[in-house]
Amino acid sequence: MLVPWSSASSLEAAERVVLLTFAVLAVCGLMRSWYNGIAGKRRSGNRKHTKEVSVGLPDPDPLAEFDLETATARNFVYANKTMRYPYHQTMAHQPMHINHWIEIDKEYKWYLDEKARVIKEHGKTVVDSLPENDEACGELLELLADYLPKRYPTLFKQHAPDSITNLVTGDRFDNVSQQKSTDALVIISRLVQDDFLMARERPDGKVYLVGGLVVFPGTYLLSETIDKPLGVLHAPVPDFNQKLLMSVERTLKRFKPNQPFERSSWNIMDDRNLFWHNIASGLPDKDLRPQDLWLRIDHQTFRKLPRTNAIIFGVRPIMRRIEDLADSPLVPSLMEKVHTESAEHLIKYKGIAKYGDLLLPYLRELTKSQIERGLISSEDDVRSFREFLKDRGMPVPSTQTSLAVPTESERRKARAGEPGGVADGMNERSFDVGYTT
Ligand code: HEM
Repeated sequence: MLVPWSSASSLEAAERVVLLTFAVLAVCGLMRSWYNGIAGKRRSGNRKHTKEVSVGLPDPDPLAEFDLETATARNFVYANKTMRYPYHQTMAHQPMHINHWIEIDKEYKWYLDEKARVIKEHGKTVVDSLPENDEACGELLELLADYLPKRYPTLFKQHAPDSITNLVTGDRFDNVSQQKSTDALVIISRLVQDDFLMARERPDGKVYLVGGLVVFPGTYLLSETIDKPLGVLHAPVPDFNQKLLMSVERTLKRFKPNQPFERSSWNIMDDRNLFWHNIASGLPDKDLRPQDLWLRIDHQTFRKLPRTNAIIFGVRPIMRRIEDLADSPLVPSLMEKVHTESAEHLIKYKGIAKYGDLLLPYLRELTKSQIERGLISSEDDVRSFREFLKDRGMPVPSTQTSLAVPTESERRKARAGEPGGVADGMNERSFDVGYTT
């Protein structure tokens, strides 16, 4: 016996069955993709603490025997093309091994304490993020929380998933993957010596500074540079917009998360105040000994974040007192030539008018002493100061006066009862302090 609707025709009934089957299959398909979406999110949530941060680069090599008491950063006079003669404005960048992204040295505690002090005093002036950058701050923190225990297992531990403990300071940070914006940046300031400027390409095709942790800029402020494109940021930098801007922008837009690179820049400074050097707004102290001028080299690292596509520009100042260069063959002579033979506008921008009379005679003295000691001869070519070491099998000099200790110039000043110390240079500008930790 046939049921009533089937009496129309058996063909019609067959069509109904096929349609019904398709409908059921479609609903199942929808439900499966919905489930996969949820499950995928859950899976990636779990992966966050393991491999999601992976960017197609190998893990860094662990420094299992790392000794914080004696560790020194690489000497960037040699490691990058920072100091070069003849001196022109160039990108001078090179591919970066992942081991070199974050370097920690014996000054670690001092840097972190100093960072905390500056952040407390200057808040938003040094730590800030525009809304478009908030996610990237979290991603940067996740990348560091993944990297640090791998590279420095004696300094950092993951006691629980999604957490990082700093064994030096005793700080433990949980729910790392939930942090965003300046909260994430302040945690970063408790982990590494580096600052981070964060940049992003906007629809107009230009690259903008959209946030960062910029505690040790030395001569400029995050609050005055945030939300500006590279061309405006570098307006004071000689030759930048004419010679470098196009290639810098192209490189920053195109490079991939697995193509980190590095460069360095150098300046002469007159004190240990990494946040704001006295010389940035004043003249060096009249009694400053030339030995106690500093060569400040900023190691600059460039990474692209895979999830948010943010450009991460790490900056880590390394300070050497000029006297520390006494045993670096040809380097005092190289520095003198760079100052006296480069294009005037380049050296003027470095501030030679403020420190030249103090520095140059001392550099000549150091060169004379190197010749007298037989370390170099007057015929040696300063351009090959790197090969000089290699050819003689000499190690790269690592003398580096501790920043934690006042210089002889500072001690003399203190003995004379004059005001001095690291905070002096900061009084020259007023700051908009709207953020405290
Ligand atoms: C390969 C890329 C880059 C190159 C070659 C470069 C080059 C330079 C140079 C030569 C200076 C002058 C430093 C000195 O001699 O004292 C400078 C300053 C500066 N750069 Fe860059 N830069 C690059 C990327 C960036 C990025 C991505 C940002 C921001 C996100 C940035 C922000 C700044 C700022 C704020 C200054 C200080 C300007 C001032 O003195 O007012 N730079 N840069």
